[in-house]
Amino acid sequence: MRRTIACLLLAILVFPGVEAAQPVRARKAMVVSRETNATDAGVAILRAGGNAIDAAAAVGFALAVTHPSAGNLGGGGFMLIRFADGRATFIDFRERAPLHATRDMYLDKDGKPTRDSVLGWRAAGVPGTARGLEFAQRKYGKAKWADVVAPSVKLAREGFAISYGLANGLKTAKNLAQFPESKRIFQKSGSYHAAGDKLVQPELAGVLERIQRLGARDFYEGETAKILAAEMAKNGGLITLDDLKQYEAAERKPLEGNYRGFKIITAPPPSSGGIGILQMLAVLEKTGYEKEGAGSAQAIHYTAEAMRRYYADRAEHLGDPDFWPVPVSKLLSPAYVNKLRASINPDKATNSDDIKAGDLKTMESTETTHYSIVDAEGNCVAVTYTLNGGYGSGVAVPGLGFLLNNEMDDFSVKPGHANMYGAIGGEANAILPKKRPLSSMSPSIVLKDGKPFLVVGTPGGTRILTSVMQVIQNVVDFKMNAQDAVNFPRFHHQSRPDKLQMEPLFSPDTRKLLEQRGHTIEIVRTICEIAAIQFEDNGWLAGAADPRVEGKAAGY
Ligand code: GLY
Repeated sequence: MRRTIACLLLAILVFPGVEAAQPVRARKAMVVSRETNATDAGVAILRAGGNAIDAAAAVGFALAVTHPSAGNLGGGGFMLIRFADGRATFIDFRERAPLHATRDMYLDKDGKPTRDSVLGWRAAGVPGTARGLEFAQRKYGKAKWADVVAPSVKLAREGFAISYGLANGLKTAKNLAQFPESKRIFQKSGSYHAAGDKLVQPELAGVLERIQRLGARDFYEGETAKILAAEMAKNGGLITLDDLKQYEAAERKPLEGNYRGFKIITAPPPSSGGIGILQMLAVLEKTGYEKEGAGSAQAIHYTAEAMRRYYADRAEHLGDPDFWPVPVSKLLSPAYVNKLRASINPDKATNSDDIKAGDLKTMESTETTHYSIVDAEGNCVAVTYTLNGGYGSGVAVPGLGFLLNNEMDDFSVKPGHANMYGAIGGEANAILPKKRPLSSMSPSIVLKDGKPFLVVGTPGGTRILTSVMQVIQNVVDFKMNAQDAVNFPRFHHQSRPDKLQMEPLFSPDTRKLLEQRGHTIEIVRTICEIAAIQFEDNGWLAGAADPRVEGKAAGY
């Protein structure tokens, strides 16, 4: 895989504008997700006459069965929709803090953060996925609800073949091993599932069948809710029946901005991603950063400097907009963007200590998942949803068979102080009952001449927004096709720690040039896993799953 990517990279660098890798092409409709059964479920709904929103719900439920590290019923996420008629909307089904949550709930008696925000029953926020997928499908879908949920029921009831990657993931997930029910279901009580084995999940099938028959109401008020609340009470968790009953998805106005004549529709707060993508691109737009080509030290330096500056703002100013006044227009105002741009030294990395907007950051785990869908009518959907950490809190609910998120760790567990990862969080993102934790999830849709051009997103915690931005840069500035744009090596800077993270395939001399400019480089194995769909000029759809993982693009 690495050799293939290296060859492709070389081809792009030597022959800019030349296509090195081929995306999956289709005329009418396309689904790209992290897992093959889930992609197939989405395509089947589309072929049966459903629209992209129906397919998005079907893929979301299917991933809850087949991609247990991030696909979920016990977590939450964001869905961005751009309708064929030009309207756009954003459905926020991010988890909320339980009613009994308190600001200091994850501090011990000496004021030190505990592991409780990461592992176990107390780490879970109130899940939003069932409510969010239903809200979107009932309002904007056209298929029958039962048909949308059906593929996931079948996958859970009859089982599916465990892939090589999933077998590895399940075996090495330490958090699953700590909870008997999780260990029983996902690790065969210690004897482990092998690649090719069938994973049958009867308890999860039961939950999905009730959702199919009774709607998400069952999850929030019915049998599922009662079992979940009882298990929470038994195990010291916070979520009650009241929490579940009161959970609502929020429909928000997406953020919009422009970059080199392209319109970018993206995620508003409580995502920090959309503001970041728009601010960083605006900073880059007038720098000429792209002149030396994709992957050049110059392009990486300028982009990293834009990243460094946004992350300083992010932790200071970003939080749930229902609880904290996020200064969106200020952060994106031309005057402010000009000031940020002017502060970049073309030859020298700025020390993050000298960036004062906010010396704060929060860190999120890299485990989340994203899928992109386009239907034959031209509706586009980008969904990113998550349990936060891989397999979330590690807790599978007895009798229900789904894993709970550990999204509470996305709050600033101790505002103003380093948390257990050495990260620092801001007051804007402090814990409050019913508040949503700050996210980086950035489902995005780019328009060219007013028409859909790119549907894109990724998991990856704080690296999400910088990776989504790089794919946009690769397509818009470096004229790559969707697959090359996804395959191309990525890098990331988030101000603190003051390190430029880079995938290994950048050349040693590029790294050297960056070090000469003062960057401290850290090589990391992979950064993010993009799922993208591009509308090509000839009318074809190009679907690009990320070769870094076992995704699948398919269409017709
Ligand atoms: N938990 C990952 C995110 O929301 O960004």
